[in-house]
Amino acid sequence: MDKFVIEGGRTLRGKVRVCGSKNAVLPVLAASLLSDEPLVIPNAPRLSDVESMLDVLRDLGSTASRRSDGAVLVQSADTPADCASWDHVRKMRGSISVLGPLLARHGRAVVSQPGGCVIGVRPIDLHLKGLRALGAKIETEHGYVVAEAPKGGLKGDEMYLGGPQGSTVLGTANVMMAATLARGRTVIHGAACEPEVVDLGDCLNKMGAKISGLGSPRIVIDGVERLGGATHAVIPDRIEAGTYLIAGVMTGGAVRVENCRPDHLTVLLERLGEARVPFQQGPDWIASVPYDVRDRARAPQPTDVTTLPYPAFPTDLQAQWMALMTLANGMSVITETIYSDRYMHVAELMRLGATVRRQGASAIVLGPAPLSGAPVMASDLRASAALVLAGLVAKGTTEIHRVYHIDRGYERIEERLRALGAEIKRVDDREPAGTDEPPTVKTVVPTESGAKAAKRKPTGAPATRRAT
Ligand code: EPU
Repeated sequence: MDKFVIEGGRTLRGKVRVCGSKNAVLPVLAASLLSDEPLVIPNAPRLSDVESMLDVLRDLGSTASRRSDGAVLVQSADTPADCASWDHVRKMRGSISVLGPLLARHGRAVVSQPGGCVIGVRPIDLHLKGLRALGAKIETEHGYVVAEAPKGGLKGDEMYLGGPQGSTVLGTANVMMAATLARGRTVIHGAACEPEVVDLGDCLNKMGAKISGLGSPRIVIDGVERLGGATHAVIPDRIEAGTYLIAGVMTGGAVRVENCRPDHLTVLLERLGEARVPFQQGPDWIASVPYDVRDRARAPQPTDVTTLPYPAFPTDLQAQWMALMTLANGMSVITETIYSDRYMHVAELMRLGATVRRQGASAIVLGPAPLSGAPVMASDLRASAALVLAGLVAKGTTEIHRVYHIDRGYERIEERLRALGAEIKRVDDREPAGTDEPPTVKTVVPTESGAKAAKRKPTGAPATRRAT
């Protein structure tokens, strides 16, 4: 296991190019199961979650490889295996999105239930409700979802997929994929409007599907006989873009986040404006504007956020926003309505000197906090990102343990932050205590063989290593 060691206080400057979106690429990879022709994703990010998804697909009989130009090519077997086991699904919740495609193309799917995770209870009842509406018979046995299509295949229908917390991203994705090969028309009401769902729909349409209404809560899918292959570049990762922008803002630096979609980050930009944080934007870039962080008059104004489904403030940027608000001039309230327990970062931010009080689904942040470096523990992907942000501005040295969480969703984050001027290194966390030797600095780029080797590591995955 690796850790990050950060010397805080450096001002970030420069350009950073956003990678392909993690949450877009995972269901797009699953969509390859709907066809026997190849699907090429030129900009699939190099993330451990992507490698895990490729492992799931290989287990199902697909060929999956990364070409020398970085593109990922996947091709489903003529007759894939129908069972996605707990071994893979537990690592990454996104792998539940193989359920709909397998069921639609092969009439049967056995997929491990993903279970809860550190950010809270994450049921899949809405996925199952939608697939049942298409005629599937679904049982849950021994922790697995066993789904069977009726004789003659799935049949389109009208359904409402909203739940107590609003729409479901992967639930919409799963049902939309299944409906592409169902007979007749499917109408999903209460569909997720997230850009990642739109991107999946765009990819499916390139493969020959007939989907309209993408980006609205009413998606219409007219089933087709078969889908073909496609080449599809996924949208830039809006959460990665937001994270680097906040890094620039927190350090008072000039960070230009390139290859991003500012229109996917409207609420973040609106909230930054409200916090009186200066930034500039163009059609595909956003840049923080430098200021003197010692000038308290220039500090961000306390600004509340409430996480809600798109286009509102994304839960996946809640922890990073909290890190920013620790620097604000006063009290801000953060309310998490998607995952009410997604506050694992609070205790660790407090170790760095933040003042935060939890009250139900809200957290009250009192700034400005004199952040100072300390050893902290990453608990999930976005919590880890918040700790990195706090470490960049904390006085002295911050050590962030268990950074494998961050490798799931940020490609080479430490190298890219270093290129912006941050003092951050990746160190093997198993260095013997008390040694005078300098720690081993590592470079990690997930590869297929690397992912396999990691699986063979005798240390195994700790119990907390759960899907986000
Ligand atoms: N929900 C249900 N029933 C369901 C499905 C969801 O009640 O059948 C509830 C959830 O418990 C939650 C809410 O609905 O309260 C929204 O969950 P959703 O299904 O939208 O989440 P997801 O599709 O499992 C994706 C992202 C998450 C992101 C959420 C919300 C992927 C792989 N994951 O999860 O990303 O937080 O949407 O935007 O796309 C991350 O990247 O760090 C991450 C956790």
